[in-house]
Amino acid sequence: MRVRINQSIKVEDKVEQTIQVGLGERSYPITIGTGIFEHIGARLKALGFAKRYAIISDDRVASLYGRHLREILHGAGLDCELITFPAGEASKRLGTIEQLASKLAGQGLDRQDGLIALGGGVTGDMTGFLASIYMRSICFIQIPTSLLAQVDSSVGGKTGVDLAQGKNLLGTFYQPRAVFIDTEVLHTLPREEFLGGMAEVIKYGASLDADFFAWLGQKQKNILGLDSPVIMEMIRRCCELKAKVVEQDEREGGLRRVLNFGHTIGHAVEAASGYRLNHGFAVAIGMRAVAELAIRIGLADSSVGVEMVQLLRAYHLPIDIPPEFDRASLRAYLAIDKKTVGGRIHFVLPERIGKVRITDQIEEADIAPVLAR
Ligand code: GLY
Repeated sequence: MRVRINQSIKVEDKVEQTIQVGLGERSYPITIGTGIFEHIGARLKALGFAKRYAIISDDRVASLYGRHLREILHGAGLDCELITFPAGEASKRLGTIEQLASKLAGQGLDRQDGLIALGGGVTGDMTGFLASIYMRSICFIQIPTSLLAQVDSSVGGKTGVDLAQGKNLLGTFYQPRAVFIDTEVLHTLPREEFLGGMAEVIKYGASLDADFFAWLGQKQKNILGLDSPVIMEMIRRCCELKAKVVEQDEREGGLRRVLNFGHTIGHAVEAASGYRLNHGFAVAIGMRAVAELAIRIGLADSSVGVEMVQLLRAYHLPIDIPPEFDRASLRAYLAIDKKTVGGRIHFVLPERIGKVRITDQIEEADIAPVLAR
């Protein structure tokens, strides 16, 4: 898949790039830059989506950036509130949505107003979900502050909350009106969160773009050192790849499933850990596992497994299912994955680095040894 830059401009000595997600009347820009946070108020004012916003953020991100963003919006002449919830995946439930909705209603937010998701994947998914149902939908903006959210969850309009039975089992497809990605915020991201986000970055290379996969190997030092131009290039390439997929298959009828590379087994591993394992770490384990599965059934040759393991290790990501995880529970979690249809599990398997095949034709006899490893 070819990478395209839609627009690259210099703003006050800072380079920023804009990618357009082309979805007809639901199209929107993703602006990526270093230090663009300060300009978000003026941009939102100029875009004119809403006069009043509620910034939704977890308490951790709110203490770092929430009050500052509120001041930036006030400075630009926009009315806004900051509404917070406790940080963590445990908050991603319908109960939190109801509490947030009550606060919006209590503050008189109406259909002309908008939400801003300021935070990581949990915040973005919940805010998008809330925006899609509050007063039968209001507009929302994504300002992702984790690497995972910047390269994946803030783009493409998947929203939702978890059920006790699994992640994201309630949700909607609802696109944001704009996404603002400031690479500077990654400096306050805990290291483990950054590395977890790298698993999603590697996913794009492994499933869609072999050149990008190789580039990630070459730039390991710059990326782990948070070298801004390289990080910006990396995020831009991920967003480009994701935008191209979403433009062709917004509601995951087929092609978009490639973005679940590593996630089928990854989600099962995450669930079996009681959601204590970092999502990206689980995806890394899942990517290694599907490489092994592809080799086992003769779809890929062994070099795919070697290359996967090398790159995952270069970014300090785990590659093995922890031995203490109960294999029967793992198998049961696979069965309730959203991608399981009619009892058949859909796997996204590598044919080679940068090319995948989606199949539900995998025999139990091949799944069990991969889970047993
Ligand atoms: N995170 C996968 C997708 O948005 O489709």
